[in-house]
Amino acid sequence: MTPILEVRNLSIDYLSNGHPLHAVTDISFRLDKGRSLALVGESGCGKTTTMLALLRLLPEEGRITGGQILYQGTDLLQISEEEMRQYRWNNIAIVFQGAMNALNPVRKVGNQIIEALRHHAPISRKQAQMRVGELMELVGIPPERAGQYPHQFSGGMRQRAMIAMALACNPDILIADEPTTALDVMIQAQVLDLLQNLQSQLGLSVVMVTHDLGVVAELCDDVLVMYGGQVAEYGNVDTIYNTPLHPYTQRLLQAFPDVDQPTASLASIPGHPPPLNALPPGCRFEPRCHRRSPLCAAANPAPIARAPGHIVACHHVEEG
Ligand SMILES: Nc1ncnc2c1ncn2[C@@H]1O[C@H](COP(=O)(O)OP(=O)(O)OP(=O)(O)O)[C@@H](O)[C@H]1O
Ligand SMILES: [Mg+2]
Repeated sequence: MTPILEVRNLSIDYLSNGHPLHAVTDISFRLDKGRSLALVGESGCGKTTTMLALLRLLPEEGRITGGQILYQGTDLLQISEEEMRQYRWNNIAIVFQGAMNALNPVRKVGNQIIEALRHHAPISRKQAQMRVGELMELVGIPPERAGQYPHQFSGGMRQRAMIAMALACNPDILIADEPTTALDVMIQAQVLDLLQNLQSQLGLSVVMVTHDLGVVAELCDDVLVMYGGQVAEYGNVDTIYNTPLHPYTQRLLQAFPDVDQPTASLASIPGHPPPLNALPPGCRFEPRCHRRSPLCAAANPAPIARAPGHIVACHHVEEG
């Protein structure tokens, strides 16, 4: 079956003072209809860059230098900007990182959703108003709050409004870039519940970006672990949690408290990811890796399938 979205060997640079920074290198993944994929990894590993590229919404200094982004088999990198506009919001929609703080403070929330809607679909104001009522109900905001301003909304309610906006044109794919960051823990759980309900109710396919492997376990079918702009490990959620093979994934999992032992201390991963303007020739995780060998400093390991659907980029997997 053709996946609803397939990314093949995607690479992305940012031009900085005329020099390319390799933010994303050779990333591949697939999303099947109705499934959810989590993109995880430390700050700066290229999650947002990858998501923006899917919609061809990279900032001006961003360049896709290779690869394919196939939406139901059509390569979105080969179509015109005008055609691309048809896919945005109608087929693939995004809740941007930090979006809930980007609502216009002096405009009523309902009006902002109406505007977004009318920007993307040729409908009357009256029709848009009715649709806003439906959308607000869908995301659990009492419709009478449409007339309120963003400051009258809690963080969770603002995030719900952003999700409503993303769903305005009935997309098949929803990208949510750190939808719960900056919300308190209970509200996080509510927003995640909402996403999960929407997914089953609307048959959405979801790509969720998060720092937090803890939220992934409940919600996502597949997990792509990124490190330094590359795939470190990719597989279904059970595989990643039960048999992580990449040392980075293993460390990440250790860095989250066990749900059964909330008092256990957090293990942090010493060191930092490599700077994009001076990427090492070898494995990008090598300087921080407990399993490194001279080979790791010499050659960057390719992502290889270690079992069907379980991709790992590490020279020393077999030695577990
Ligand atoms: N406009 C830009 N110009 C130059 N470099 C950029 C630009 N945007 C992002 N970068 C760099 O690209 C890398 C990837 O950034 P990106 O925002 O995709 O990371 P991320 O994984 O989403 O991080 P976070 O978890 O903090 O959101 C980072 O090193 C970042 O500094
Ligand atoms: Mg980001």
